[in-house]
Amino acid sequence: MNQSSNEENNKQTLHSVVGDQWFVDLVERFYDGVASDPILRPMYPEDLTDSKKWLTLFLQQYWGGGRDYEGLRGHPQLRMRHMPFAIGAAESEAWLSHMTKAVMAGGLPVELEESVLAYFASAAEHMINKNETGLIL
Ligand code: HEM
Repeated sequence: MNQSSNEENNKQTLHSVVGDQWFVDLVERFYDGVASDPILRPMYPEDLTDSKKWLTLFLQQYWGGGRDYEGLRGHPQLRMRHMPFAIGAAESEAWLSHMTKAVMAGGLPVELEESVLAYFASAAEHMINKNETGLIL
């Protein structure tokens, strides 16, 4: 099986393997990193409660769990939702480094871990909306 169909299968099964709480803990670890990041912290609201909640619900939904995110926030349209924030290579790399650490502390079986890391690497790249000169892409 090639890598992308592995990812498709894992997208359907991750939530059924790890359950809701794994995503709550992942997002908690991720935001622990964001909270002390000089590039990322200023981009987020002072109170991170809702930021944590939306990311948790989005990820649970994306990886095959309940659809509460959509019920509360509508269609994800993540790139569009990130347009108010200037995201260049530095922001994307900082985000991905915190998320990679958070995932790797999550104790997943190696094949699932690889799929999750590949997903975040590609999603973080996709969210870039500004080049080195500040031009909006
Ligand atoms: C690439 C660097 C990224 C940066 C700098 C970034 C930054 C942000 C910021 C500042 C917010 C607003 C938080 C708030 O108002 O509470 C946000 C929201 C969010 N981000 Fe990102 N983000 C990035 C990548 C990603 C990626 C790769 C994903 C998903 C895989 C993601 C998922 C979300 C979700 C689900 C929300 C909440 C959307 C909503 O309001 O419903 N972000 N992000």
